[in-house]
Amino acid sequence: MTASDIKRIAYIRSIPISRAGPYIPQLAQAVADTGRDARIFYTDGDCSAEDFPGGTWEKLPEDATPDQIVDRIRAWDADGVVSLSFPDEAGLRDAVVKEKLARYGIPMVSNGLEPSRLLADKWETKKILVDHGLDTPQGMLIDGTLLKNGAAGVPVYADIIRLKAEEIGYPLLTKAVWGSSGSGIRFIRDRADLEAYLASPDEGNFVLERCITGELCTVELVGADGEYAVQPLCFTGPTGGEPTFAFWELRSSAPRAADDAAFAPVAEKLKKLCATLGISGVINLDIIYSGGTYYVLEINPRVSGATALGVAASGCNTYLTMTDILLGQWQAPAEPVLPRRRWSLEFPVNNVTAAFIQEAEQALDIVQITPTLVVDGREYGGLLIASCEYGSEADFLQQITALDATHDVVSPDMLAQLKELFTSPAAQSVR
Ligand SMILES: Nc1ncnc2c1ncn2[C@@H]1O[C@H](COP(=O)(O)OP(=O)(O)O)[C@@H](O)[C@H]1O
Ligand SMILES: [Mg+2]
Repeated sequence: MTASDIKRIAYIRSIPISRAGPYIPQLAQAVADTGRDARIFYTDGDCSAEDFPGGTWEKLPEDATPDQIVDRIRAWDADGVVSLSFPDEAGLRDAVVKEKLARYGIPMVSNGLEPSRLLADKWETKKILVDHGLDTPQGMLIDGTLLKNGAAGVPVYADIIRLKAEEIGYPLLTKAVWGSSGSGIRFIRDRADLEAYLASPDEGNFVLERCITGELCTVELVGADGEYAVQPLCFTGPTGGEPTFAFWELRSSAPRAADDAAFAPVAEKLKKLCATLGISGVINLDIIYSGGTYYVLEINPRVSGATALGVAASGCNTYLTMTDILLGQWQAPAEPVLPRRRWSLEFPVNNVTAAFIQEAEQALDIVQITPTLVVDGREYGGLLIASCEYGSEADFLQQITALDATHDVVSPDMLAQLKELFTSPAAQSVR
């Protein structure tokens, strides 16, 4: 099928469309402008002409099965499909949808079953990372069945874990092999913690790995067929010890010349990894930067909560790129990493009112304001994503300080962190 044959494009989305900021609306408008029909099939939140301009929308049940999704997409007579879904379960679901649609000759930009299945497994992912010369925290696979039934079958299994733990070194943590959003993470500070863990292990298989103190980063790659673009790296908070809730931290894509240069060879290896795995669409990675090394924690084969942060920094709309891939119009850029064109920042905000949103939109380059963040059914405070042109840092600080004085939205600590970021030596380089 060529680009001119694809007239009707279906999008699948599993979290509120609004969480993508202006980037899904921009996508819908761009598709409509080429005279194609776009329809978004979504399972969460609402949709209106503002969310999907020029296109149409259809709500699916939240627990829609792959077969139900395939039926609805075929009923609409789509020529091609793009997955804009996350988190992991939704990404995997769409991998199954892709496989099923292929039987009807309907192409879909989403990762296929093989890469999705492998990357859903944190131990398989580690092996793939090592094969590609990437760094990942040293660890071992814990077979939960062996550990629980050790007394009956392999009584020395717990001893093996004890010895490996000494070799890797404390502190350690365990993560469920198929876990996501921090599920199954147990922090193991020392031998006593390990003994407590061995005495009451959780169900299932786990990765036991070195807990690294450093800076958490996230990055997204988008592309297909050996051609990939790497969005600018985002730094999302400190690591070491018990993981905290990601969205309470200042998250930013900020100029850091030396750290960006150190990331370039990692980006090249990641592109090769994408080519070997046959990535079609997006991967998002969680990484810890520590002592000059980027340790990859995991690879999520789908868009993520950090997509908007990267897109705001580079100006390259991931969602639109996925459509270009579907249309056979995608060509990877020559740069190892897409250039960062501006600051992109995300931080928590409280007391979000309509008046605050209106004033913030006038004063700042707002990408998106989420009044209440809902993750796994739990409500958190608000979240603000904004960009800031190089050279406008002082103005940004002045505006956010003034907004806070009127609306009491940002914690003093967050204001101090913003100030520190904007006045860092790296920030001086872009003035
Ligand atoms: N080896 C590690 N050292 C320090 N912190 C870690 C480590 N592994 C995970 N974490 C923390 O736990 C969070 C979740 O781990 P991650 O591997 O990304 O799994 P998932 O997001 O699928 O639950 C990370 O964002 C990080 O804050
Ligand atoms: Mg993660």
